[in-house]
Amino acid sequence: MVLVTGGTGLVGSHLLLHLLKSEVLVRAIHRPDSNLNRVKAVFAYYTEDVEALFQKIEWMVADINDIPALEMAFEGVEQVYHAAALISFDPKNYNRLLKVNAEGTANIVNLCLSFKVQKLCYVSSIATIGGSATDEKATEESEFSEQHTNVYARAKYAAELEVWRASQEGLSVVIVNPGIIVGPGFWETGSGALFGTAQKGYSYYPPGGSGFVSVHDVVRMMYHLMNSNRDRERYIAVSENLSYHSVLTTLTKQLGLKAPTKQLAFWQLNILRVLDALFCFFTRRSRKLTKNDIYSLKHRSQYDNTKIQNHLDFQFETLEKPFHFSCARFIEENRSPKKS
Ligand SMILES: NC(=O)c1ccc[n+]([C@@H]2O[C@H](COP(=O)([O-])OP(=O)(O)OC[C@H]3O[C@@H](n4cnc5c(N)ncnc54)[C@H](OP(=O)(O)O)[C@@H]3O)[C@@H](O)[C@H]2O)c1
Repeated sequence: MVLVTGGTGLVGSHLLLHLLKSEVLVRAIHRPDSNLNRVKAVFAYYTEDVEALFQKIEWMVADINDIPALEMAFEGVEQVYHAAALISFDPKNYNRLLKVNAEGTANIVNLCLSFKVQKLCYVSSIATIGGSATDEKATEESEFSEQHTNVYARAKYAAELEVWRASQEGLSVVIVNPGIIVGPGFWETGSGALFGTAQKGYSYYPPGGSGFVSVHDVVRMMYHLMNSNRDRERYIAVSENLSYHSVLTTLTKQLGLKAPTKQLAFWQLNILRVLDALFCFFTRRSRKLTKNDIYSLKHRSQYDNTKIQNHLDFQFETLEKPFHFSCARFIEENRSPKKS
């Protein structure tokens, strides 16, 4: 039996489908108010067999911060895929981020140890990969530094430390560190918000760039790593290093809009940051732009993806197809048909 956390999210729902298609026996945890229909909606993108596949999942209610509920979910489990996390870059959410991402991961690894689980696959992030001091691409060995990092990165790094601690205590572990994940269906949260941003058709684009990867590659990597003899390793999951300009240009083109042409200057970003802070102070909304965000925009991070290719003979897909597929679903679900 395989246990999946975060099964109602972008990565988790695609992982569930991949496991079910591979005829793996799956149990997934969800919170009481999770929207399970989102999982069905993701299945429906790829198969007509939605209900039959969905019914094969053994769902159990458990928050990763609720140890007694988790204990029930761990009965008879041999492998654990841990994809549940809180994604937020707002400094005021730091304690919640630590609670869910670090403490929640500590709960998962402790139960893996006490239930003698064979192997854990943890979904971390490139946010925990340190920047390269030179122009070279960052690798799995690039050391994380707290300086200029956002609250999300710090909490995910604290979570990774829990996974390494458990591996010292005898748990077999693999970690994947995905870049920005491209996939359909979660338009309001995490990387899904990219499509909504492109849809606004701004003429400005931010400087910098990052590593991007399709959700299918993340899931395939997780499955292959889990079923390989690799242990105590982390792997960057990035298929292409892209500028935000090129990503927004691709998305706007697919959405039938004009591509952005003007790069935001750093002084403009700083003005936006101050306005954002003031707006959020008065409205209590989440911060969208912090000092550390601007720092990371200045540095176009590049990631080396050769380790997974060498260790597992893994080939990444190019992003053209996943961008195209996701934009088509975004249009179907977010644009009301024109009245004739
Ligand atoms: N999306 C990206 O671009 C990206 C990039 C790099 C790494 N990652 C990492 O990849 C993983 C999956 O991300 P995602 O994009 O799939 O995120 P997502 O769509 O926001 O899904 C998050 C999942 O975590 C669950 N969750 C949150 N708090 C929980 C709690 N306290 N107890 C149990 N479940 C909880 C959510 O359940 P509910 O349905 O109940 O909310 C949901 O299933 C995360 O670890 C994230 O840090 C994501």
